[in-house]
Order: sequence, then C-alpha cells, then structure tokens
Amino acid sequence: MEHTPNYPTDQWCVREDTLNPDLLHQGESIFSIGNGYLGFRGNFEQGAPVYQNGTYVNGFYEYRPIHYGEEAYGFPKSSQTMINLTDCKIIKLFINGEPLDLLNDQITHYLRTLDMQQGTLTCELIWHTSLGIDVQVTSTRFVSLQRKHLAVIQYEVKLLNADAEVTISSEMISNESNQLNEWDPRESAAFYGQVLLPDTNYCSSQSLFSSHTTKRSQLHLACLTDHQIDTQCPYRYRSHSTDSVGQVIYDIDAKMGNKITLKKYMAYYTGPQNSKQHLEDSSNECLHSAVTAGYDLLLFEHKKHMEHFWKHADIQIEGDDAAQQGLRFSLFQIFQSVGKSGERGISAKGLTGQGYEGHYFWDTEIYVIPTMVYTLPEIAKNLLIFRHSMLQYAREHARTLSQKGALFAWRTITGEPASAYFPASTAQYHINADIAYAVKKYVDVTQDKEFLYTYGAEILMETARFWLDFGFYNNRKDKQFCINGVTGPDEYTAIVNNNAYTNLMARENLWYAAEILSTIEQENPEKFEQMNIDPNEIKQWQDAADHMYIPYDEKTGIIPQDDSFLDKEPWDIQSIPKDHFPLLLHYHPLVIYRRQILKQPDLLLAMFLLRKYFTDEQLKQNFDYYDPLTTGDSSLSDCIQGIIASQIGYHDKVYEYFEETVEMDLKNINHNVKDGVHIASMAGAWLYITYGFAGMKDDDGNLSFDPKLPAHWKKLTIPLQINIHQLLITITPDTTTYTLTEGDQLTIRHKGQFINLSNNKPFPITR
Ligand code: BGC
Repeated sequence: MEHTPNYPTDQWCVREDTLNPDLLHQGESIFSIGNGYLGFRGNFEQGAPVYQNGTYVNGFYEYRPIHYGEEAYGFPKSSQTMINLTDCKIIKLFINGEPLDLLNDQITHYLRTLDMQQGTLTCELIWHTSLGIDVQVTSTRFVSLQRKHLAVIQYEVKLLNADAEVTISSEMISNESNQLNEWDPRESAAFYGQVLLPDTNYCSSQSLFSSHTTKRSQLHLACLTDHQIDTQCPYRYRSHSTDSVGQVIYDIDAKMGNKITLKKYMAYYTGPQNSKQHLEDSSNECLHSAVTAGYDLLLFEHKKHMEHFWKHADIQIEGDDAAQQGLRFSLFQIFQSVGKSGERGISAKGLTGQGYEGHYFWDTEIYVIPTMVYTLPEIAKNLLIFRHSMLQYAREHARTLSQKGALFAWRTITGEPASAYFPASTAQYHINADIAYAVKKYVDVTQDKEFLYTYGAEILMETARFWLDFGFYNNRKDKQFCINGVTGPDEYTAIVNNNAYTNLMARENLWYAAEILSTIEQENPEKFEQMNIDPNEIKQWQDAADHMYIPYDEKTGIIPQDDSFLDKEPWDIQSIPKDHFPLLLHYHPLVIYRRQILKQPDLLLAMFLLRKYFTDEQLKQNFDYYDPLTTGDSSLSDCIQGIIASQIGYHDKVYEYFEETVEMDLKNINHNVKDGVHIASMAGAWLYITYGFAGMKDDDGNLSFDPKLPAHWKKLTIPLQINIHQLLITITPDTTTYTLTEGDQLTIRHKGQFINLSNNKPFPITR
C-alpha cells in the first residue's frame, strides 16, 4: 500500500521538509522537471536513495517484441517503450572520504522545493558528518525552456564549522534500469539487459561525452556535460570515461565558510542513428554557447518562459490554498511535459515516469488539447500537427483491420500500434473521433484556417472514410447507421455494438468532415482537387451521420452505454472489498466485462463533450444512473463526473470530485503516482474550473458562462485565450467581471444574456 504524502500547502511551491523513505518513489514523480523534450525525474544528485532513476527524452523509445501465447492476424509484433536514458544529473559528495547519505539521521536540515513559478527544483540540507563537520549543500536544477536540449545544475557546498577535504564526483551514468513491474499493466514493460548500446565516449578537461544507440529502433543519443567550478580554495580535478560511466572528480582543500560552487551543464541530443556526427556536433555547440552564457543568463531566459506561461495559464483561487497549489502543480507538470515543436506529443505520465511506457493516448486530444487551446494555442496546434504526422501509420493500421481511411493507434509513440491487448486498445476506435473533435475545438476557438486546410482537413477526411467503411446501415435497426464491435472509453466494458460514446463522437466526426470538405470544395477548388476526394464521399458521410444510431432506452429514459449494457448483471460497488480496487488488478477481465460496472465515465463524457445535444434533465437522468456504477479506477473519471455534477447542481458531489481531481497526484489518490503523474486528470482540473465552476459552454466556439463558486471560495480569476482575444474572468460570490485585456470586441453570453465586450472595459455583472 502506498503512503499518502502531505506536502505543506503553498501557493507556488511544493515542499518536502523531511525525507521519508516511504514517500521516496512518489516524490521522484512529484519533483520531476522537464521542458517537453527532456525530463528529469526528481532523483537526488547523490544518486541514492532511489526508487527509479529517470532521465527521459520525450518519444525516445526502443521497440519491444511482443510475444503472444496465441497469435492472430494483425496483432502488433512489437511495442515501443520510452526508455530511461543516460543519467547526467549525478553529483556525489564526500567529506574526508565519507559519502553523503541522505537517509542518515545526521541530516539536521532538509528542504526540497519545486518552485512552480520559476520552474526550478532546489534541495538544501545540512549534514553533520561522523567526524562532526557541518556541511551545507544546496542544489538547484532546471531543464531549459529556452534551449530544449539543455539542463543545468548549480551545486553549492559550504563547510560550516571546520576545514575538510571535499570531493565532488560529477557523473554521467548509462544504462540505468528499465525494469518495472510487468504484472501491473499500467506500469512499464521491462527491458532486460542493456538497451543503450555504447557507441563513443571520451572525456576532455572538465567535460564528458557519451553516445549510445538502440538496437531495434536505431535511435542515437548523444550526451555531453561540461562544468565550471568556482571556489577560493585550492582544488584539483581529474576525469575519466568508460562505456557506462563518465566522471569528473574534484578534490578540494575546503576552508570553513568558503562556498564551493559547481555548475554542471548537460546537453541531450537524439535522432536517427545515421545522424550521429551531427548530434555530437550539436551537443558541442549547445554546451559551448551555454557555458559562454553562464548559469545566471540561462536561468533568466528559462524564467521568462515560465512567466509567459503563467501569464496565459494561471488561474487564481482565493480562499482555497490547497486547490490553488494542486491546480498550479497540474498546469506546471503539463507544461513541463508537453512536446512543443510538432515532433512530439504528451504521454500519459508526461516526463515524470515510465508508467504506460511513455505512450501517447486520447488523453492528449480530449483532456490536454482543450486546455491548451485556451491557454497556449500554439502548443495545441503542434500536438495536432504531430498527430497528423502519424497518418501514414494510421492508414496502414486501418488496412490491417480491413478498413478504408485511417485508424490512429490507441497507444503509441511513433504512430504504430503498441498494445498486445486489443479489447482495451485497438477496439477503442473512438480515438479517431477524439482526434477529429480536438481539430474542431482548436479551429472553433482559434479560427486557424491555415492549420485546418494544411493538416486538419486530411485528418477529417481519413477518419470520416474510416467510419463510413467501418459502420453499416442495419436493417434490423430501421436502416440506421450502426458501429459494431468496439470498446468505448470505459475499459470495463469491451467489444460491444453501438457504444453510445463512439456513435455520438463518430457522428460529429462525419458531420464536421462533411462540412469542412464541402467548404473547401467551394472556397478552394484547387486544394480540393489535390485531396483526391470524390464529392460523393462527402454526401455519404453526411448521410451516415444523419442516420447514426444512438441507443435510447424507453423504459428508463436513459441512453444505454451500448446495445447490451443494460442487460448485464448489476454489480454493487459497495459490496466489493475496498482492497479489490482497481478491479483490473483483482479480477479477470471476463468477470468485469459481463457486469454493469464502469472504469471511467463513458456516456457522461460524451454528454460533456457534446453538451449542445443534451438538456439538463437528460444529464441528470443519465448521471443518476451511471455515476453510482463508476469505480473511478481510471484517473480520467473524477473531473468528468464532477463537471456534470456541477452543471446539474449536485453541489454535494461537486467539491468532493474536484478535490480528488486537483489532488490526484499531490495526495496520491490513485496510489500509483510513483509511476508518474496523471496528465489527463491534471488537464481535467483546468476543465473542471472552466466548464464546471465558471459554467463555460463553448459549443461550436460560442462562449457562454454560468459561474458557481464553491461556498468557501472568495475569488476565482481565469485567463482565456480566444483567437486574438485575451479574456479575463473574475468571479466572486456576488459578481462576475469580464475584461477583454487583448483584442477589440468579443461577444459572449452570461447566463443566457448576450454581452458585447470591448477592449479593457471591465463588464461586471451582479448575481
Ligand atoms: C484509461 C485510459 C487512458 C489511459 C492512459 C487508462 O487507465 O482507462 O482511458 O487513456 O489510462 O491515461
């Protein structure tokens, strides 16, 4: 059983003032930092104590062959797994030959601080050595947001009461373990033996270089570190390097009261094997320029990016410091993990751990992209461009399943399917519609036609082709368009006919594709011509969508999750022993699949995403039915249940679900934060504030608000980027004020009433 951490409440920081070995593994995830390309898990420079050392490059993977007990046609032959890379963050300290031991009870002061405003991780401690020397150690690290290949550590040592021989060994260690628990499907699959094959290594003066290659994926990693030492005390250094370890060792005749400062600059470059010389040269250039710039300037540049981020994303809560901290932590980790260049995505655990093998899921499109669309739309765009780059694999995947168009892989790094368990992966065809949904959301809010024509339209066309070919007009259901043999978002119900979520979202996908492609046909015939599309296809998409079968149960008035769901045996959640959750770790899938029990909201999620089609009464009826059946075994649940609860006025549930969402990781609600944070739930916290507490609806880009604050909140301030407009919403218990801080004019609705906003004229409305 995992322990519950208790980080002191602080609006901008996450702090740990004692090092509890029981909380070590969780802390490593929590204290992670990254920049979307490179990520450092919160391991100590000393290298120990450690649960899982982690240094990741987003999307750097090795193929892992999948061995099936029984093969079948079309099963993926291998998975891709994000691997643990060469660790450059090690800096070991010895005083008179005695190594620093962080678990020693002679650590008289300890404080680790993740500063979310600045994007730094600091660790300060005082160690009373066995010879009675008091040593103060302070390290600060950041992964540069300005220079994506660069990370920096400043490591300071000061002797407080005596002189001593100080040894600092700055290291670079390759082939850290990749072995996790194979038995828990949410963790990473194991790799045994060396995953990174040594290529080149050398040391020169105070710098170390090493490069490695993966065997199957043929990716190359080049790592270079360089150092600057600053001290008044006499010192000597030596360096050496092997295939697996590089060291620069400083021996310092340290004097009491004299600070020793070591700055360590680390460059990571990755690419195809045949680019290795280029990667090595680039790492040299990067470090040369970083060392010339120096620590202070590098930190300054980095902080500027954090400032920009918070200017666009910071939601302020007055009256609830714990919620403020949890929310900032959520946004911070998303920003630290999200790929920003259109070449990488955001994995389910970000860059904080190897859970789910570093794979990208629909979490990106349904949770993260809506958050980014309204904060940093450029990032949302690049995530979609990255998806677009997977189209070729998606086409091949559709062919493997004997279908036209394209089917995106349920979980992947490269775009190729990566899961051996098709009932909860390949069968989640809804990913296609989720991606199309994100395209629409991005375009509705930003009006970015260029993106739509260059990337979005092709995604819409290929996904629509897939649905048309995959579904069929079912005579037994009044010739309505049915989609059979799918798994919806709820992974506790698999391979069913007419999953309502899938049909509703596929319908939206088909309608939107028809609308956009017809517009292109009229407005841009040349582009239409290039797309090689038969105008008949558009009509067929429209027809299929118009005739989409959406299940409805006359008797109960609810929308059945699928054709068979209501016939399944009920399973009273209360009767299941508490220690049997999550069910997936305690019951055979077949035991779960035949019951009316949900891992995560399915129909309720569709109602949230496609709010325009449902009345409050329908929301209420369906919530009353599905909420009690939902285990919440997936962290993607609480936020959605809570938003719906807030939209239908179930106030007693609203705050409870919110707390679970916003504290998912800091309080280790799902007991597995050791494998990495829960990125979708983190984005869910943002969705909760905007769609829940601010009561936002944004169907087809039309914005309306109906705010309801939790009783103890004094004020909530939300910045939203809407195309060229920046809207600031300030909600207090009595008043809501809308201010257009950028842009000229914007029309929104407040509780149904239209409001025309103009630049910098606050528009207050009293309740
Ligand atoms: C959920 C999926 C989700 C995945 C990664 C699973 O537990 O059921 O919906 O995509 O986790 O977050």
